[in-house]
Amino acid sequence: MRIAIAGATGAVGAHVVDVARRRGHDVVALSRSQGVDLLDASAVARALVGAEAVIDVSSIATTSGAASTAFFETSTANLLGGGAAAGVAHHVALSIVNADRAPSGYYAGKVRQERLVSEGPVPWSILRATQFHEFAGQIYDRGRIGPLHAVPIMRTQTVAAAEVAERLVELAESDARGRARDLAGPREERLIDLVRSYASAEGLRGPIVSVPLPGEMGAAMRSGALLPGPEAELSTQTFDEWLRAR
Ligand SMILES: NC(=O)c1ccc[n+]([C@@H]2O[C@H](COP(=O)([O-])OP(=O)(O)OC[C@H]3O[C@@H](n4cnc5c(N)ncnc54)[C@H](OP(=O)(O)O)[C@@H]3O)[C@@H](O)[C@H]2O)c1
Repeated sequence: MRIAIAGATGAVGAHVVDVARRRGHDVVALSRSQGVDLLDASAVARALVGAEAVIDVSSIATTSGAASTAFFETSTANLLGGGAAAGVAHHVALSIVNADRAPSGYYAGKVRQERLVSEGPVPWSILRATQFHEFAGQIYDRGRIGPLHAVPIMRTQTVAAAEVAERLVELAESDARGRARDLAGPREERLIDLVRSYASAEGLRGPIVSVPLPGEMGAAMRSGALLPGPEAELSTQTFDEWLRAR
C-alpha cells in the first residue's frame, strides 16, 4: 500500500517509516526537510496523489495554545483536503491520552486536530498514546535556560515510540475504526527522573530542575490527569530497557 507519512523525520515518524517499509509499503515522506511544508495546501495535495492512507505524526514544539492550534488546524485541513481530492481511503492521526482533559497550551492544538479529523471527509482512525520514552530527550533539549534544564513536574507512563509506530501502521493497514484503544507504557514514572536518567546515560552535565508549568495543561501534567485509564493497552518496553537498548 502507498502510505504518506506526515512528520516522517520526527521522534515517532522515523519509526513509522521504518515499520511501514519493513512491512512492504511504499512510503511517501512528508516533512519540510523532505521538501513538503504541511502548511502549503498545494504542496500537500501534490504529495498525496496516489496515496491510499495517510499517517499524521507531525508536530510543532510549542507550549502556546495559539501556535499549536494554528499549526494543527492548517496542517490537518491540508492533509484532509488533499487526501479527499486524491482518494485517500484512511487518515490515521496520533494524539495524546486525555489531551481533552486539559485543552490548553500544546493540547489545545491536539484537541482541534482530533475534532477536524473526526468530522472530516476522509475515513479516520485516531490513536491516543502517552508520552514517548523519547520525550525525556525532547524535554532536556527544549527546557534549556542558560546552564539549567527545566523539566515540567509531570506524572507520566511513557511508551517506546517504536511500539507506537507499530500500532499506527497496523491501523493504517486495517479499515478506519474511529478512536482506537489508547496505548500507554508499562508503568508510571516521574518525568524529572526520566530526564535525569537520560542525561546521565548521554554523559550530559548541568543542573536539571523541576518546574510547575502554568495553566490547565501544567495542572493536568502534575495531577496525573494525563495517565492512562484501566482500559488502555499497555506496551512492554520500560524506560530503563529503552535507555539501555539505544
Ligand atoms: N513526543 C511525545 O511524547 C508524544 C506522545 C504522544 C503523542 N505525540 C504526538 O505524536 C506526534 C509526533 O510527535 P513527535 O514528538 O514525534 O514530533 P517531533 O519529533 O517534534 O517531529 C515533528 C515532525 O513534524 C515535521 N514538521 C513540523 N512542522 C512541519 C511542517 N510545517 N511541514 C512539514 N512537516 C513538519 C518535522 O519535520 P521538519 O522539521 O523537517 O519539517 C518532524 O518530522 C504529534 O502529533 C504529537 O502530538 C507525541
